[in-house]
Amino acid sequence: MNETVNVKITSNENINYPIFIGDNLLSDIEYYLKTYVNADKYFIVTNKTIYKIYKKYLNIKNSKVLVLNDGEKYKNLDTYNKIINSAAKCNINRTDAFIAFGGGVIGDMTGFCASTYMRGIKFVQIPTTLLSQVDSSIGGKVGVNTNMGKNLIGNFYQPKLVLADISTLNTLDLRNLKTGLAEVIKYAFIQNSINNQQNINNLLFNYLQENKKHIYDLDKTTLINVVKNCCCLKRDVVIQDEKEKGLRAILNFGHTFGHVIENLTNYSKYTHGEAIVYGMKFALNLSYNIGLISQDYLNTSLNLINDYNLINKKLPKFKFSNIINTMQIDKKVEHNKLRFVLNNENFMVSIINDIDIDDIKNIYNLMIS
Ligand SMILES: NC(=O)c1ccc[n+]([C@@H]2O[C@H](COP(=O)([O-])OP(=O)(O)OC[C@H]3O[C@@H](n4cnc5c(N)ncnc54)[C@H](O)[C@@H]3O)[C@@H](O)[C@H]2O)c1
Ligand SMILES: [Zn+2]
Repeated sequence: MNETVNVKITSNENINYPIFIGDNLLSDIEYYLKTYVNADKYFIVTNKTIYKIYKKYLNIKNSKVLVLNDGEKYKNLDTYNKIINSAAKCNINRTDAFIAFGGGVIGDMTGFCASTYMRGIKFVQIPTTLLSQVDSSIGGKVGVNTNMGKNLIGNFYQPKLVLADISTLNTLDLRNLKTGLAEVIKYAFIQNSINNQQNINNLLFNYLQENKKHIYDLDKTTLINVVKNCCCLKRDVVIQDEKEKGLRAILNFGHTFGHVIENLTNYSKYTHGEAIVYGMKFALNLSYNIGLISQDYLNTSLNLINDYNLINKKLPKFKFSNIINTMQIDKKVEHNKLRFVLNNENFMVSIINDIDIDDIKNIYNLMIS
């Protein structure tokens, strides 16, 4: 039942590592580490919430555990210092490895520490949220926030091993499960822009339409399938464009407007996934408005998003100038035209650079009416 997705990037140095996706992989954590990492010592970084639940799995030979406070607000340079200094006190050196045991916050921070500690040491991702299993643990983006911006300091740094144990999703709260599901749905809309051949028989979109109940019941086979599908899609993007020079931008489907919502509500009112839900609806409506997709495609798409019931908060009313200013900061405005990842039919997207501000205004007004 367990699945493996191999990530092989040949453009830079030779990068080659496995992502294992399965149920109860944590029971065999030492086997995976010995076989695929083989470090002398392991420096495990996690947070209080996760440590309380999963402590029993972290009794690994020759390892030290650092337990951090829980929260995005700790994803900063103070915690970076704390991790680095603590690793140094534990005499972690170049033959050792860092392990990120947690969601995207722990993964991004630990990965960034690993990429700079002694100019880079081995690193393992053990993602424990749906969002980190389908998104943040894959692709090598690592970093921390500063007061001036989210993920302002960061790096591209690939792990040696990713262990996505879907049994950890049993303890995840519903809101965080839903935030991951928003990213899963995102992959469904971009699937055919990733695979060269259009995939008609094996559409993630159809799978999600048919398996909502299984997903919310946390059926193991279904979850493994979903996580594997998303990992493969992200892997296929990253191996073509590791450093986001082109194709990787399509992973930002739903994120242009999503980032605006997060930013204008100080990253506190909406989870990332909730903001992305509005962002995807925005992009779909805009795509329809400028004639890229049919009414039928729009309706079927919105029905899937609505069916998953990912958010019960209304879209906030912002001053329109604030929306545009925020997009400007996000470098998405040039000469009064905006850049969006928009839908084409058949689960494809394209990057459109010349969206009119008036079109944005119309869609926003439509969505808050
Ligand atoms: N590197 C990338 O490519 C990338 C992509 C997307 C998002 N991100 C980053 O990921 C972060 C968000 O990640 P996230 O959504 O995983 O949030 P998170 O790491 O904050 O985890 C969400 C909450 O769930 C708790 N938790 C984690 N695993 C649990 C489990 N198994 N059982 C119970 N509780 C658990 C955490 O303690 C936390 O309170 C953001 O900082 C974002 O910038 C990075
Ligand atoms: Zn995202």
